[in-house]
Amino acid sequence: MAILVTGGAGYIGSHTVVELQQAGHEVVILDNLSNADERVLQRLQAITGKAATFYRADIRDRKALSEVFEKEKIESVIHFAGLKAVGESVEKPWEYYDNNITGTLTLVDEMRRHGVKNIIFSSSSTVYGEPDAVPVTEESPKKACTNPYGWTKSMLEQILSDMQAADHEWNVVLLRYFNPIGAHRSGTIGENPNGIPNNLMPYITQVAVGKLKELNVFGDDYPTKDGTGVRDYIHVVDLAKGHVKALAKLTPGSGLNIYNLGTGTGYSVLEIVKNFEEASGVKIPYVIRPRRAGDIACNYASAEKAKRELGWVAENGIREMCEDSWRWQKNNPNGYAD
Ligand code: NAD
Ligand code: UFG
Repeated sequence: MAILVTGGAGYIGSHTVVELQQAGHEVVILDNLSNADERVLQRLQAITGKAATFYRADIRDRKALSEVFEKEKIESVIHFAGLKAVGESVEKPWEYYDNNITGTLTLVDEMRRHGVKNIIFSSSSTVYGEPDAVPVTEESPKKACTNPYGWTKSMLEQILSDMQAADHEWNVVLLRYFNPIGAHRSGTIGENPNGIPNNLMPYITQVAVGKLKELNVFGDDYPTKDGTGVRDYIHVVDLAKGHVKALAKLTPGSGLNIYNLGTGTGYSVLEIVKNFEEASGVKIPYVIRPRRAGDIACNYASAEKAKRELGWVAENGIREMCEDSWRWQKNNPNGYAD
């Protein structure tokens, strides 16, 4: 039996493929390569010594999905495929709802048609909106999202929960990721954003490598330790391992389970800059800019439930996250094109 990993050529998906293969799972990747490079597949094989079966296909393509379920013996699906750029989702809401929601509805319909009712879904801490209190637990209320991307995550959580409530053969795990950064220690796979990065760490590493002049720090007047935004950064390899642990939860009758995947520690933007400088030995020039629309002051996780029920804890600290982000960027200044 195999695990189908949608979006498995992407940033978090590729790191999860490594951990799955190293834990002995057979892996089938399905990705339309809209935000990934096929060359990642050779890099994955070089790390694990195993080839994953790859289908270049779109999760909205019912026929292609059906063929995969007919050809492969799929036991469970880890569903990463989706569009994820917050700003772009405000400009192109239809594309985000179509890709993420139509895509997931098509995927789960084909799953049930083929009798596969185990799914792990990539959700996000964005479903908590601006939290009333930190750390947020899985019981903290879901709030209004500030952009269509966030709404797709919030709505898909609801859709999958309702499907599970109506048909108890479904086993569903919703994983709410905090802020994944870092890369595999080999420095051969990592985050490879198109164009100018939106997220903090890829922006910093591109400043470090000389592709961008300086970091824009969005706001220094938040009610936080130094006025800059605080987030729960988590090493992508720890996040990937969380998926392997969560697979064990997909047993008959397990129902619906929701977990935060974070470290429980918040770092400010300026703390990330300082830690990155120490880890890389490279100075990061920055300028303070106005707040970015839609940003919140502070969010970090309680990761107690994942520890208690999955036996999962993040093992890497901020030093490893910065070192590994830097190793990937330094060795691959142009991503997979090198
Ligand atoms: P990514 O863009 O690197 O990976 C997504 C992958 O899905 C890409 O390889 C892309 O080509 C593929 N894809 C997109 N639409 C598809 C479609 N219609 N059919 C088939 N493949 C498709 O992003 P990532 O950072 O690895 O994120 C993975 C998942 O985790 C996403 O669902 C994302 O929303 C979620 N998530 C990410 C973060 C983060 O900060 N990176 C935080 C919370 C949640
Ligand atoms: N920031 C800067 N300069 C930059 C980029 C970011 O100062 O160039 C700051 C932001 O203002 C924020 C912090 O760095 O305070 C982190 O920003 P990111 O864009 O890296 O991450 P966000 O927390 O804003 O968003 C991330 C994911 C979203 C997800 C959200 C909640 O990108 O997909 O976490 O899970 F929805």
